[in-house]
Amino acid sequence: MATLPRLVAAAVLLTLVCAVDRNNFKTCQQSSFCRRHRAIKPGESPYLLLTDTVSVTDEGVFADVLNEKNRVFFILEIYPLKDSTLRIKINEKNPIKQRFEDPYALTGDGQSETFEVVDRSSDGLTVKFGTNRAVVKAKPLKIDVYNGKELVVSTNARGLLKFEHYRNKPESNDQPAEGEDPGNALPLEDEDANGLWEETFKGHTDSKPHGPASVGMDISFINSKHVYGIPEHADSFSLKETTSTEPYRLYNLDVFEYELDNPMALYGSVPVMLSHTPRQSAAVFWHNTAETWVDIKKLPDTNVVSSITGFFSGGDSDPPQVSTHWFSESGVIDLFIMIGPRPMDVFRQYGALTGNYNLPPLFSLGYHQCRWNYNDEEDVRQVNENFDIHDLPMDVLWLDIEHTDGKRYFTWDHNKFPHSLEMIANLTARGRKLVTIVDPHIKRDNNYFFYKENHDRDLFVHTKDGSEFDGWCWPGSSSYLDLTNPETRSHYSDTYMLDRYKGSTLDTFIWNDMNEPSVFSGPEVTMQKDNLHPGLGVEHREIHNVYGMLFLLTSEGLRKFLFQQHQGTFEGLLRRSDGRIRPFILTRAHYAGTQRSSAVWTGDNTADWGHLRISEPMLLSLSVTGITHVGADVGGFFGNPDSHLLSRWYQAGAFQPFFRAHAHQDTKRREPWMFDGETQRIIRNTLRQRYQYLPLWYTLFYENELTGAPPMRPIWVDFPEDEASYAVDYEHLVGSSLLVRPVVEEGATTASVYFPPGVWYDVIDLTTYTGPGSVTVSAPRDKIPVYQRGGTIIPRKDRVRRASSLMRDDPYTLSVALDSFGKSQGTLYIDDEHTFDYRQGKFLYLALAFEGGILTSKKIDPIGNYKTGSWLERVIIVGLEKRPAKVTIQSASLGSRDLESFFESGGGAHASHLTIRKPGVSMREEFTITIQ
Ligand SMILES: *[C@@H]1O[C@H](CO)[C@@H](O)[C@H](O)[C@H]1NC(C)=O
Repeated sequence: MATLPRLVAAAVLLTLVCAVDRNNFKTCQQSSFCRRHRAIKPGESPYLLLTDTVSVTDEGVFADVLNEKNRVFFILEIYPLKDSTLRIKINEKNPIKQRFEDPYALTGDGQSETFEVVDRSSDGLTVKFGTNRAVVKAKPLKIDVYNGKELVVSTNARGLLKFEHYRNKPESNDQPAEGEDPGNALPLEDEDANGLWEETFKGHTDSKPHGPASVGMDISFINSKHVYGIPEHADSFSLKETTSTEPYRLYNLDVFEYELDNPMALYGSVPVMLSHTPRQSAAVFWHNTAETWVDIKKLPDTNVVSSITGFFSGGDSDPPQVSTHWFSESGVIDLFIMIGPRPMDVFRQYGALTGNYNLPPLFSLGYHQCRWNYNDEEDVRQVNENFDIHDLPMDVLWLDIEHTDGKRYFTWDHNKFPHSLEMIANLTARGRKLVTIVDPHIKRDNNYFFYKENHDRDLFVHTKDGSEFDGWCWPGSSSYLDLTNPETRSHYSDTYMLDRYKGSTLDTFIWNDMNEPSVFSGPEVTMQKDNLHPGLGVEHREIHNVYGMLFLLTSEGLRKFLFQQHQGTFEGLLRRSDGRIRPFILTRAHYAGTQRSSAVWTGDNTADWGHLRISEPMLLSLSVTGITHVGADVGGFFGNPDSHLLSRWYQAGAFQPFFRAHAHQDTKRREPWMFDGETQRIIRNTLRQRYQYLPLWYTLFYENELTGAPPMRPIWVDFPEDEASYAVDYEHLVGSSLLVRPVVEEGATTASVYFPPGVWYDVIDLTTYTGPGSVTVSAPRDKIPVYQRGGTIIPRKDRVRRASSLMRDDPYTLSVALDSFGKSQGTLYIDDEHTFDYRQGKFLYLALAFEGGILTSKKIDPIGNYKTGSWLERVIIVGLEKRPAKVTIQSASLGSRDLESFFESGGGAHASHLTIRKPGVSMREEFTITIQ
């Protein structure tokens, strides 16, 4: 039964006080497996490792585990992997039905590490690999993971492991069915038997044909006080204890007008959590694609002293820790533990499992202008022109759902967009790109080619009865692609070919929205869990959290159309290096691994100060779990921002990785020229600052591809020992060199900035601050508190043009900010900004350093050779104490030449600085500049 179409509900709600309708979404109490796992008492684990079953191969260690209470057997697999990573799997030994294991998130199974099994006894065993150890205790099962002598992570330390084996539905509550294995028919250990075989929520009944099948376990981070990650939630970066709240929920949902500061599920689920202490960073990846909840408890619990006894060996001597409890509705336990020990190690280790974001085309780091909707070609033409008229840089214009013929994706509304090719050509003539939207709901209309083709080939999701699923979404009655079927994926992919997606061009890029999937008529506004994906032969429940990402895997299709060839995965394409142009995709739903193909934004936020504030912690949470090209809709999607909120939001967005303005169709037009002159001036200067720093962003995204290091990062990544920064989530670092503190308080003219240890220079007026410590700085409307760290060199392009592509061969400025030793360093990456030629060595990756009065530029990667037209226009040395007598440059082509320079001595708190004019050297050449 279709409920009230949400567009009607949305329109009604918008006129009222807006807030999420919590009743649309389950609480833990309304989810039977959540109740069962939360009810487990610590310290009573019935799971035993049977030490006489241990076997060892080259890959790992295997043993049986017995649940003593119901005599069900499991298999434990332990795989030591290269680079201080450990994989632990637990599955049923003799399942009556194969349990689902996600084939999509990992880029491989990880490279085996050599290891040694020692101390084997009836109490357990120890697996030594590299400098790490996994100590397996048998009764009850517990696995402690050490880095050297340091205990880092402990699993099942509290005894919350629970693995619900598949069983046949009992005829009655206590009688085994005839011929059934009695082991399978034994009653559950739970008291709470409600909802084991069927569950109803708001009139939707989940038929649960396979009964209870959930899995859960506790994972402790030892000596830790802070854990991070598990996006997506509108909550603080340092995750909160959930002892008196709901657990954090991971279940991809289209939540209308989401609330702040709570653990409710949102559009994406990345089951990755990091812990950080001064000595030790670590992370876990709970590789499960079903609905998941996570409880967090910090120990010792100062309120309830007795709660710590029994969790760990020694009562009072128990180390402080964050104990987390994870449980998923189905699947297996498949846990990756990344042992660090430093933050950058953890990013590299996680990147090795699920992949890093590939260097995006430069335009995608520029400014994006979106609205639901730019109505027609004339509207697009005017917006495009107005950006030039008002001297506002912009790289990409976006078209939302209304550009299509009745929400039939891959088509155009021919009344509003009769000449899309000419329209796109008009954008590209100004150096810009177009993004169009493609959603996963396919209008059920036999006259729509894409519906008909998929219907005829039976490529849609089925209901539990095997018929084509019919859900309500933007086009009305819709079917949903079964992307677990490779045939669906390749057919979908082909649809991006220019001869299929008519009216699109190589400059058209793609936005995948609503891919949780959003189903207005479904339970919790999504798909029934007992729907079937015929491709893999699994229920929707098994793959819900990865469904949106399957769309991206299929963006092979997008790639095919870009590469004009027919290959499998993105990774495959890159290795063969046949593809030329880098794709750009934005997705709303996300899972671990989504970063391989796509940028992510935080969905439908609201034009209020709270949503501006929460964008910082939300983007930090995504960044540290590998999803690095992230942003929040500038201005807020719902509602009308006033000029102050809007300009503050531009200021924040300009220093976050993905920078796009977007707005709901019921909001007032809010292109910058709709506002007063002062607001326009602020937005213009803000956009210009974004474009000045594009070389820094681009370099950081290159390094993100190489190392996994997130361009937007919390302070502790670069200051691991600075405990005062561990909970700071109102500011962030861009790389290691910029500290950004967006002003997110209504009416504020000052801002409290936390400066980590070292020297920091205001990037505009060079006011100097010395950390650690918090300082209240002046922050009038036009001020973005942004600081360059002493000891860093930042490349900029100060000649800002209307789009980034027009700045390709423009000259660079180097901002050299000295530390207290008069030193600094940085990197600069340069290539053609849009093709894969860099994979063939067509790039320059430069190490910049200043020491002892000498600035040098040297190739880091000698293979790299790109014939850039860019040259060095200016060097600014900030913090130089004395006017130099002479400045000279040496390079192969210039020889030795004196340079003009200009010294300004600082006053008060302002730093002195030297501006060196027109060094004139090509960025292709290594050079030194000497100050005497
Ligand atoms: C493209 O630009 C030209 C010149 O401004 C204009 O006349 C034409 O209408 C534009 N075409 C479209 C489809 O927007």
